[in-house]
Amino acid sequence: MCGIIGYTGYSEARGILLKGLKTLEYRGYDSAGVAVYHPDFNETLVTKCEGRVEKLEAKCGSVKGTTGIGHTRWATHGGVSDNNSHPHKFGRVTLVHNGIVENYAAIKNQLGVGSKLKSQTDSEVVAALIDAYYEGNPNEAIVRAVKELSGTFGLAIMFDDIPNKIFAVRNVSPIVCCQNDDGVYIASDIMAIGEYSEDYFVLPEFSVAEISPEGIVIKDFDGNEIQPDMLKLDWDIKNSGKMGYPFYMEKEIMEQPEVIEKTISNRITDGMPDFSSDNVDDSIFTDCDNVTVIACGTAMHAGLIGKHIIEKYCKVPVTVNMASEYMYNDPIINDRTLVICVSQSGETIDTLEALKYARRKGARSLSIVNVKGSTIARESENVIYTNAGPEIAVASTKAYTTQVAVFYLIAAKMAHIRGLLNDYSTKHFVEQLCKVPAAVSDILDRRQDIHKLSNGMLTAEHTFMIGRGLDYPTLLEASLKLKEISYIHSEAFASGELKHGTIALITNQTPVIALLSQDSLMSKQVSNIREVQSRGAEVITFIKSNLKSKDIECSFELPSLDDDFMAIPSIIAMQLLAYYVSSDKGLDVDKPRNLAKVVTVE
Ligand code: M6R
Repeated sequence: MCGIIGYTGYSEARGILLKGLKTLEYRGYDSAGVAVYHPDFNETLVTKCEGRVEKLEAKCGSVKGTTGIGHTRWATHGGVSDNNSHPHKFGRVTLVHNGIVENYAAIKNQLGVGSKLKSQTDSEVVAALIDAYYEGNPNEAIVRAVKELSGTFGLAIMFDDIPNKIFAVRNVSPIVCCQNDDGVYIASDIMAIGEYSEDYFVLPEFSVAEISPEGIVIKDFDGNEIQPDMLKLDWDIKNSGKMGYPFYMEKEIMEQPEVIEKTISNRITDGMPDFSSDNVDDSIFTDCDNVTVIACGTAMHAGLIGKHIIEKYCKVPVTVNMASEYMYNDPIINDRTLVICVSQSGETIDTLEALKYARRKGARSLSIVNVKGSTIARESENVIYTNAGPEIAVASTKAYTTQVAVFYLIAAKMAHIRGLLNDYSTKHFVEQLCKVPAAVSDILDRRQDIHKLSNGMLTAEHTFMIGRGLDYPTLLEASLKLKEISYIHSEAFASGELKHGTIALITNQTPVIALLSQDSLMSKQVSNIREVQSRGAEVITFIKSNLKSKDIECSFELPSLDDDFMAIPSIIAMQLLAYYVSSDKGLDVDKPRNLAKVVTVE
């Protein structure tokens, strides 16, 4: 969602801010803006507009100065317009905001500033509040103001009478900072500033950072100076471009053999699953009676695969919960519950709030996260990082498959230490998992065969995906992928369920995608395919090679692994299908309409 960038130093801020905003584009946005302290006018000047950063860049011609803040906005309060774009300036205060201030209307009334506001945003009210409290001491004004806010906020603030400084403060919404000889940089995520230094920190919540070209001073709300925990960036940010691919999504699909390998290989010792490098204590796998997975969207679908595997091998009941619903449904939870949160960004607010709730209720916690030092990672007792590297496309691909890979390792570990798999069987399980990257490469090598299949989908308005057993959760994810980037309405069904109502929608205008990767369910799945074909549907089949038969035409042959390990190869074929449909329709694959990469509002 909203992205923040800030710089104060010895170079012109304009280029640094615009470059940062371009990097933040992947988060999803509708407007952009910058504010730079102009030395000739002795004030902070704001340039902003609805639309892309290129439009802003064209408007920014004469922007001059070495201290500034910038923002990409994903509209919440107030429509998409120039005025509602950030930065917001009120009196002497200029700020950018990521998050939502829930009590902004009450504050507006209390200040009596309604007629002076230029926007409908909650954020401009925060600028007005800080300005109202500002009597020469910025820290005091910021602390006093943010203590009155309810909601979430990451704020970067400038004062007209303090030329070379930026102040930052946060509750939930992240702010990261780094420094080099040229100055100090802040942003809402490390992607925007990672090129300036590999050493960075996440601003602690409820502390104020006073940032000048010489450095950063952080104080808690009582004025005590605090030292942040430094992190090291191990992503190759400089190679995070598209690397010759037309879209990030294709590049990220193609990276999967490598990142799956990276995610599993350093967690296998002598053929056995091993989380010691993650400092994950074995006791979390033994001292639990049930597992609760909490996540959103694609990450939740990874949890559904995890449920299938953990229940089968560990005989522990697993529930998979949409994070946004979790705490409103009186979940059954106690100190024998292991909560596993799954999140690429580590910042999804629903997942974060659900995690905090579960911990308050006494649950043990483990998170599977991609972004190091992210809020969910820090709020969890235990973290297993996926080694997917930066994922820029809104549609999640490599983050998902690495999350699933971690679930396989968790299942193997848990089953082994609970005595359900002996050493031999555990090693066999791990061996099967190690075959996945090669199976993925095989599919990627034949991707043009999938491209040809996508032609049959280009004019479809609706599609159904059918599968049984492990294929069903895989298709839930496949269906989400197709919807979000191709705008084709798609629903995934457990094949046997279709005839209980939904089959009424099957016509010769609704292509059906059928997945057949499970040996034991083959004959039943073939019958279900016949049912939709009898009603006129064109069926595109993805069949595991050993299951190919005269009984059913195969559109794409999947490599043959044991049933339980087909979840990753199968979804990669489906990711490619969604990708080719979207790109052949001429859509913006990486930035689908209405979506944001990081969802920081509930
Ligand atoms: O960063 P997270 O993994 O927590 O994000 C969760 C979802 O917002 C995300 O997976 C979303 O569904 C993707 N757009 C799917 O491709």
